Amino acid sequence: MPPPATRSEPLPSGSTMRARVTDFALLKVLGRGSFGKVMLVRKHDSGHVYAMKVLQKDHIRKRKQVLNTRTERDILVRVRHPFIVGLKYAFQTSDKLYFVMDYCPGGELFFHLGKEGRFHEGRAKFYAAQILLALEHLHSIGVVYRDLKPENVLLDEHGNVKITDFGLSKAGVVDSATGAKSFCGTPEYLPPEVVKRLEYGTAADWWSLGALLHEMLTGWPPFFSQDRTELFRRIAGEELALPEGLTVEAADLLRCLLNKDPRARLGSVGGAASVRAHSFFAGVDWQALYDRRIPTPWTPEIRAVDDVRFFDTEFTGKPAVLSPPPAGPAGGLAAAVRGAAAAAASSSSSTAATGAGLGSAAPSSSLPGDHQFAGFTYVEDASSMMRAGLHAAAAGAPGGSAVRGPATAGYAMA
Ligand SMILES: Nc1ncnc2c1ncn2[C@@H]1O[C@H](COP(=O)(O)OP(=O)(O)O)[C@@H](O)[C@H]1O
Ligand SMILES: [Mg+2]
Repeated sequence: MPPPATRSEPLPSGSTMRARVTDFALLKVLGRGSFGKVMLVRKHDSGHVYAMKVLQKDHIRKRKQVLNTRTERDILVRVRHPFIVGLKYAFQTSDKLYFVMDYCPGGELFFHLGKEGRFHEGRAKFYAAQILLALEHLHSIGVVYRDLKPENVLLDEHGNVKITDFGLSKAGVVDSATGAKSFCGTPEYLPPEVVKRLEYGTAADWWSLGALLHEMLTGWPPFFSQDRTELFRRIAGEELALPEGLTVEAADLLRCLLNKDPRARLGSVGGAASVRAHSFFAGVDWQALYDRRIPTPWTPEIRAVDDVRFFDTEFTGKPAVLSPPPAGPAGGLAAAVRGAAAAAASSSSSTAATGAGLGSAAPSSSLPGDHQFAGFTYVEDASSMMRAGLHAAAAGAPGGSAVRGPATAGYAMA
């Protein structure tokens, strides 16, 4: 089977990435994760709607996520792929970072799995095949994704997959079993090598694809337990027990992807092509899939460009506002210095997980737009936005705790 065409388009020029927060009307809250929130926004001049991810710098520094956030930006800028969310603008103010992305109105797979329990095999196969192509592309440019789970897989207006959230991704990983050491991800989807704190590589993503496919087909991730210690014990050492009712091909693919030995796991030898060649995917026209010519198994009925029906009312019912910058005469700058101190204080922990690199790279300067967040165009001071009345209705700064509870939150741990 010929490999599908995967290509990276040229980087958008600085000017195409340039925008400022006052260019957008904030319409709705779409989601909230561990580091910030995502809102539906409309650009005043074009009328286009986008999803805007807003991160608090102070929070990023405290949680030692500076390097990760820069990686997230770099990957989003670099990657152009039909099944990966596209970045339109990235900019910063003194206290916040902004990613403006294509809006995916079909919502998260998490939302749909929650409603339907599980998917029929054809639907699960369609999503798994599109995710596979996205992972294939990421691996081809040396990126391990590390946070594949139903919350991070979105559907576009036609019902095709777009994976989002590169906050835990790592660049420069070219081997299936080496290149990454950080203990990070989301517990249910972590492979044994990560649970055991061993070095790992791109095969970690193939395990997570197996875990996600298991959840799509059965309603549960494999080895599930609400007790974290028990979950990890099962992932690391328990034999995979599959429920009745799966087809022979589906069961075999799950066994091959959920192979505890990363070097023997499907995808490890032979890369993504070996996963595509599995009998579960027999009959998939990969080029047609890549070109989005295959009818989607489910198409969202979108009533307006700003329709948020497929997002949780837990989020969409909240006011779409930006939190005010940290209090104090020096505003964001004071917070930045505090953050720098916190980062420096914790730099003695040499096993820093996903924040690896920040400890030794503790900032010497924390002025707005400094090199810490290089790549995010500095556009405007938050205090001037305050004057512009943007924060008039601001209420409740992000609490920082994952709204879906510790079981499903992507996390980084030392
Ligand atoms: N491009 C997008 N279109 C629609 N919703 C999005 C988009 N990007 C993110 N979201 C929503 O916001 C949530 C949080 O975004 P994500 O990037 O995953 O942040 P976190 O790192 O906090 O998990 C997602 O799970 C999804 O519901
Ligand atoms: Mg996420």
